[in-house]
Amino acid sequence: MTDRLNTIFGWLLFAGVVALMLRFVMGFVMPDAERPEQLGYVIEGVDTGDGAAQGPALATLLAMGDAAAGANSFAKCVACHTIEAGGAEGIGPNLHGVLGTAIATHAPGFAYSSALADHGGEWNYENMDAWLASPRAFANGTKMSFAGLSDPQERANVILYMLENGGGPPLPEPPAEEPVAEEGATGEAAVEEVTDEGVDADSMEAADAG
Ligand code: HEC
Repeated sequence: MTDRLNTIFGWLLFAGVVALMLRFVMGFVMPDAERPEQLGYVIEGVDTGDGAAQGPALATLLAMGDAAAGANSFAKCVACHTIEAGGAEGIGPNLHGVLGTAIATHAPGFAYSSALADHGGEWNYENMDAWLASPRAFANGTKMSFAGLSDPQERANVILYMLENGGGPPLPEPPAEEPVAEEGATGEAAVEEVTDEGVDADSMEAADAG
């Protein structure tokens, strides 16, 4: 009897040790396997979440924007771009009047990357905003080696500056209902809080009475 119990305990102990060893080994193997995946995800999230998810719409940023501030920011571009009419191509193409043109066609003499040339579409405001936020995310393999402008308002300002230099499509109408919707949401939250307090007070009174 004792022998059989010993055997059973022996096997249980062995199984436990094996399980522990497996977890130990997995602990070494799994983080290495998961890590690049997670980091990649986080970086992508930062890229997209930054501009699009929160904050005012692009149309609002353009309406509030400042082309003169955009001219200052354009200092980050002049190493590679000219913007005046007939300006020379540099490392990047001349940008005079680029807004509204088909992507990667504006400067016919410039050797665009196939990543940008094959992108399709035109430089409307959404595309330009996405491009300036992260050229590489917009056209993976582009030869514009520029990290991007992470501040949405700065992007809008630079776009307005480009609009001043050669024109482009009409600016989008800012969504008028946006601030109203926010007020509505705050109002609802406030109402809910009041109701909660009301319930609490009631139940406390009931407790006192009882
Ligand atoms: C390091 C050099 C460099 C910098 C800095 C740079 N660009 Fe570029 N840009 C390029 C190159 C190169 C291309 C062509 C990309 C391709 O063909 O993939 C390009 C393409 C573009 C295009 C597309 C033009 C077209 O004809 O379709 C726009 C718009 C643009 N850049 C705007 C900007 C703005 C605005 C800035 C500053 C915020 C900037 N770039 C900073 C090198 C640069």
